[in-house]
Amino acid sequence: MQGKLRSVINILDLSVGELEHLMDLADRIEKQPEEYRDRCRYKKLATLFFEPSTRTRLSFEAAMLELGGQVLGFAGASSSSAAKGESVADTIAVVSNYADIITMRHPKEGAPVVAAQNSTVPFINAGDGGHFHPTQTLADILTVRRTCGKLEGLTLGLCGDLKFGRTVHSLIDAMLRYPKNRYILISPEELRLPEYEIEKLRSSGAEFEETTSLEDAIPKLDILYMTRVQKERFFNEEDYLRLKDIYVLTPEKLRNSKESLAILHPLPRVNEISVAVDRDPRAKYFYQTLCGKQMRMALILFLLGLDE
Ligand code: NCD
Repeated sequence: MQGKLRSVINILDLSVGELEHLMDLADRIEKQPEEYRDRCRYKKLATLFFEPSTRTRLSFEAAMLELGGQVLGFAGASSSSAAKGESVADTIAVVSNYADIITMRHPKEGAPVVAAQNSTVPFINAGDGGHFHPTQTLADILTVRRTCGKLEGLTLGLCGDLKFGRTVHSLIDAMLRYPKNRYILISPEELRLPEYEIEKLRSSGAEFEETTSLEDAIPKLDILYMTRVQKERFFNEEDYLRLKDIYVLTPEKLRNSKESLAILHPLPRVNEISVAVDRDPRAKYFYQTLCGKQMRMALILFLLGLDE
């Protein structure tokens, strides 16, 4: 499919073979960055961010710059014509004339579908509301493959805001494609995984359990995926304040974990991982941001047909 118009809205838009290809490519980029330094010469990436972001936008931009390409875009709806009432469809139709590839973050679930339909260049979803975040999942699976050596037969603990956390939804969708993974869903009742994601776990026949106790889950885990309570998606400030510090990972809580545990977090962190954990060799969340840049480099090359 190289060089053909492709969109990545959902992690399922990439086959398992393509995920492997992207991870292998990210490994090659890490080993021989000079081989890729000019691959995207004269190519432009547009980053259209209607919602706040640090890692996703900057890692996309760093990825394109490291490939020798250029970047243009905006960070914040208020500085774009969306503030004047322009539709996503129109913005994308225009930007397709200015860039060779587009990535967009938008607060509305489903906005990337409209964007992809109106784009004449490859389009990548950089997060839509509480829905999906496929490129974070690319970062996550590379981190898991590099730290655990495999993507199957693992016990994953997903902890925090499983309702609104789009990174969790995309990660489950990806890990369900690898055999024999088990899932422990750790959240308060109010922030449980949405029924449509639970249904995917059920119908795939994967082993999973729901719990409110992080402490009980920790000893069983190969991967602990911590998440922030998604303040911006709450309707009621009181509920947010009541739930925001419900899980805080500390060195004490890690005492009974496996030595090989990998602790991931898409970041930004608020309070859910104490900074004292950062020095622990099990903490992989800053390394995960490097994996994110390398996977975005691989994805840009792949969608532009410049990967071979
Ligand atoms: C995540 C997101 O935007 O969904 N951040 C990211 O892209 N790394 C997670 C979050 O905001 O909590």
